[in-house]
Amino acid sequence: MRKKIVAGNWKMNLDYTAGLSLFSEVLNMVNDEVTGSQEVVVCSPYIHLNSLGQLAKENKSVSVGAQNCHQAESGAFTGEISAAMIKSVGAEYVILGHSERRQYFGETDALLAEKVNAALKNNLKPIFCIGETLDERNENRHFNVIKQQLENGIFNLSEEDFSKLVLAYEPVWAIGTGLTATPEQAQEVHAFIRKEIAAKYDDSIADNTTILYGGSCNPKNAAELFSQSDIDGGLIGGASLKSRDFVDIVKTFN
Ligand code: 13P
Repeated sequence: MRKKIVAGNWKMNLDYTAGLSLFSEVLNMVNDEVTGSQEVVVCSPYIHLNSLGQLAKENKSVSVGAQNCHQAESGAFTGEISAAMIKSVGAEYVILGHSERRQYFGETDALLAEKVNAALKNNLKPIFCIGETLDERNENRHFNVIKQQLENGIFNLSEEDFSKLVLAYEPVWAIGTGLTATPEQAQEVHAFIRKEIAAKYDDSIADNTTILYGGSCNPKNAAELFSQSDIDGGLIGGASLKSRDFVDIVKTFN
C-alpha cells in the first residue's frame, strides 16, 4: 500500500517565532489524526528546520522537510545549503523542482536531476514537483510537458532510488491562484503519471509511488481531490500557514 501524505510548503513565510508556534499548534492538533500508512510533513524555511526537527523527533506524527537544496556536497557556494546539512538537523524530506524554483531561479530538469541525486545520497526523500503552465494546458501540451519533466528529471534513477521519491503534480495555473484543478483534471494527470512510471519501471513501482496534488488545495476541496484513485494526498501552500486549515486537510484522510 502506498503512503498517503499531506505536506505543507510554507514557502518564504513566517519568522522564526511564528514558524515555531505554528508547528507546535500543528503537532498538538494532529496527534490522533495520523495512522500507519499516513504521514504529515511540514516543509519550512531553513531557519526553522533545526528546531522543528527536534520537536518532530519527540513527536513522531509529523516529519520535517526543506524546500530546496544545493546539488554539491559542500564547497564555495556562498548562501547555499547542502542536502547533508538539511539531513543533519533531522529533516527527512526536501521539495525539489517546485515551479517557483523553476520559474524564478531558472532551475532546469538537468540541474534538478543533480539535486535529486544529492538528496538521495544523503537519505533525504525528494518531493519532486512537476506541472504545466496555463499556456501549456491551453495548447493541450500538458501531457508532453509532464512526460519531459519526468524523463529529464527522475527517470534516470535506478528502481531502488526511484522508490524513495514522492511526486507532486502542481499545475502552475492552480498555485496560489484559488483556481484548483477539478478532481477529474487532477485524476487524469495523476493516472497519466502513474502510467508513465509503470512503462519506465513496472506496475508494482507505479502502484507504490505516492503522487500528491498541489495548487489551491484547502479544507473544502481536499476530500474530493484525495478521494480520486490516483491522488495520494496534497502539497499545501497557503492553507498550510493556518494550523486549523492544515489540520482540517489532514483530517480528510479519515
Ligand atoms: P497553494 O496551496 O498556495 O496554491 O500553493 C501550492 C504549492 O505551491 C505547494 O507547493
